[in-house]
Amino acid sequence: MSARHFWLLPVPTPAPHQSCRPRPPCLNRPPPRNNLPVEPTPFIGRETELAALDTLLTDPSVRLLTIVAPGGMGKTRLAGEAARRQLTSVRFPDGIYFVSLAALDDPTLMAAPIADAIGFSLYVRDQREKWTKDDQADQLVAYLRHKKLLLVLDNLEHLLTDLKLLSSLIGAAPEVKILVTSRERLNVRSETALTLQGMVIPPDDTDVTQFDAQLSDAVQLFVLCAHRAHPAFVLSAENVPFSTQPGRI
Ligand SMILES: Nc1ncnc2c1ncn2[C@@H]1O[C@H](COP(=O)(O)OP(=O)(O)OP(=O)(O)O)[C@@H](O)[C@H]1O
Ligand SMILES: [Mg+2]
Repeated sequence: MSARHFWLLPVPTPAPHQSCRPRPPCLNRPPPRNNLPVEPTPFIGRETELAALDTLLTDPSVRLLTIVAPGGMGKTRLAGEAARRQLTSVRFPDGIYFVSLAALDDPTLMAAPIADAIGFSLYVRDQREKWTKDDQADQLVAYLRHKKLLLVLDNLEHLLTDLKLLSSLIGAAPEVKILVTSRERLNVRSETALTLQGMVIPPDDTDVTQFDAQLSDAVQLFVLCAHRAHPAFVLSAENVPFSTQPGRI
């Protein structure tokens, strides 16, 4: 075929079934607004817990979900990852927001950091054009009443003496789901608690020459941390036993 004939060939059009195939609903819309933290290290393991959290976050009867464990166990990372995985779902079109409460020392002031995280201004202008300050919790509850949204409240353990705002939200905003991290259970009626255990570690008497370290989340996390401290670190039969001691991870 000459070059001239080549240019006269019609441009092929895609078959209808290729261009018209409906896309799944979650791919047709952008992810919901969110402020999830960008983590400096990759998330490791916890697939069983993530699957359980996904199921619980899907269940409309679960309104308040607490990840409970002692300090340093990985609650914040797990909550953040569970929330991130909801970005591709259609469950929370009004947003997925992370609120750190670690620095708050008065539970009656909890509405302010939540409002700040979701971008809601708590102050309104009254009819005489004066700034007024309504009860902040009431304003927030009124704003969230018809929202479909996931709130991640991180480090609630020191604020358990006054959880009225959470009760009000659960009572008034049926499509707001609250995922809490806390070193203690909230012990309220609406709570579903997921107790986080330590990562799986190989048994003490493991023959490390036979052991596949890649199978253990705890060892993977150890290797990640070791690499950050010493980029040349290589997992070996000599250092695996240290990584299997939970106190050293
Ligand atoms: N699954 C994981 N993947 C990667 N890093 C993790 C994982 N779990 C925990 N970490 C790391 O371990 C450290 C402690 O985790 P995290 O801050 O989530 O604990 P925590 O239970 O929230 O502690 P606290 O009660 O003090 O808030 C952090 O540096 C975190 O990045
Ligand atoms: Mg934490």
